[in-house]
Amino acid sequence: MPAGVVDAAAKGVRPERRAAGAKKQLVSASSHLLFRATVLATIALVVLFAAHYPSLLSRSYILSAAAYGRGAASWEREVRRSAAPRRDGALSVLVTGAAGFVGLHCSLALSARGDGVVGLDNFNAYYDPSLKRARQRLLASRGVLVLDGDVNDAALLERLLAAARITHVLHLAAQAGVRHALRAPQAYVAANVAGLVALLEAAARHADPQPALVWASSSSVYGLNDDAPFSEDHRTDRPASLYAATKKAGEAIAHAYNHIYGLSITGLRFFTVYGPWGRPDMAYFSFARSIVAGEPVTLFRAADGAVARRDFTYVDDVVRGCLGALDTAGKSTGSRSGKKRGPAPLRVYNLGNTSPVPVTHMLAILEKLLGRKARKRVVTMPSNGDVPFTHANVSHAARDLGYRPATSLEAGLRHFVDWFVRYYKVDVGGGSADAGKTAKRKSMPTSAAS
Ligand SMILES: NC(=O)c1ccc[n+]([C@@H]2O[C@H](COP(=O)([O-])OP(=O)(O)OC[C@H]3O[C@@H](n4cnc5c(N)ncnc54)[C@H](O)[C@@H]3O)[C@@H](O)[C@H]2O)c1
Repeated sequence: MPAGVVDAAAKGVRPERRAAGAKKQLVSASSHLLFRATVLATIALVVLFAAHYPSLLSRSYILSAAAYGRGAASWEREVRRSAAPRRDGALSVLVTGAAGFVGLHCSLALSARGDGVVGLDNFNAYYDPSLKRARQRLLASRGVLVLDGDVNDAALLERLLAAARITHVLHLAAQAGVRHALRAPQAYVAANVAGLVALLEAAARHADPQPALVWASSSSVYGLNDDAPFSEDHRTDRPASLYAATKKAGEAIAHAYNHIYGLSITGLRFFTVYGPWGRPDMAYFSFARSIVAGEPVTLFRAADGAVARRDFTYVDDVVRGCLGALDTAGKSTGSRSGKKRGPAPLRVYNLGNTSPVPVTHMLAILEKLLGRKARKRVVTMPSNGDVPFTHANVSHAARDLGYRPATSLEAGLRHFVDWFVRYYKVDVGGGSADAGKTAKRKSMPTSAAS
């Protein structure tokens, strides 16, 4: 007889019952193990999800906070804190697209002069979202909160406007880029048309009092206009790209909301804005990356042989124009009830540099600053969005906003390159640049101006 059976017999336990007990223990141990493994796997999935889709997570936080009231109070407190003006007479500004290039600089400038700023951005992947996150962190270090959220989210906008007494909206969120519209046309309609309408609806119907709105249109609305320099009085009914068409539609939509609801609205037509923390899809930025990575740079020549020219405008100059527009916006005259007391301001201004420069010259400056020659590839400009030149007349902005662009292309590009080599850890002196590697290059069409 085996020893176990002798023991069992000795203890008065029947061998079959003891075997059943052992089996039970085994099943319970393995189900514990299974439970633990499931919990661990779930935690791992949540961590992975949070790393890849942080905006979705925080958005769902916002929604659950809104739905169940849990965390809602602290969310509102944070929004109010960030939006609170810090000096008498200062503004309280909602900046959409605050994690974008121009949004970052405007938010920093507003905050630096004591205005309250709360940002909103959906951190989309049109270009490297980690650059947008880095901008968000920089703003957070200055006390500016940038919420994850979409301008098309009407409930979120309503909550935001209820939480803080926003006096001005600086609407910069958009799908930018001229040639990307060939790949993703609906993205332009969603962000630039539907998004603008959602924001105007919220400002007109859910804010009390209504804020004044300043928003980014674009020099691209001049389209096939060849009367130069481009003036606000010139034709803008011949857009050369879907991007331009959505910005032109935005100007018409702005007219309707101003007319019906008495919203004070100012549209700003930016001309090829460049500078530190810029947009990787734009020519100056992608040229810099190609130069350090030793990759060829594509230059466009117009059908008549002329090199493309752009009215490159340094971001600090544009920021001064944006702040000037906010400061002079005038009040909205409508109310939530839909009644307006009288006409409200409706304005459009060019914000350019007034001196178009051949793109080849911009490239030569970059080569000098980076200490390397570019490998050039010259091709005829495809007729799919870009225009041969842009040139701004800014006399209206000078008169009404005190706008005076003051930065030469050489000085502005030096600031850009200083930032670029620091941010991407490019070794300009030693010649071992790794910006091509570090600046996660995505295959995307480059915009000379948008
Ligand atoms: N940079 C230029 O040269 C230039 C020229 C003309 C016009 N503009 C206009 O100026 C504005 C700012 O341009 P930028 O160069 O800073 O571009 P950007 O792409 O860096 O900034 C736009 C930001 O908006 C966000 N966004 C996009 N869709 C959104 C949505 N539905 N909801 C919330 N956020 C959204 C993006 O994530 C991005 O961070 C845009 O309206 C652009 O069309 C720019």
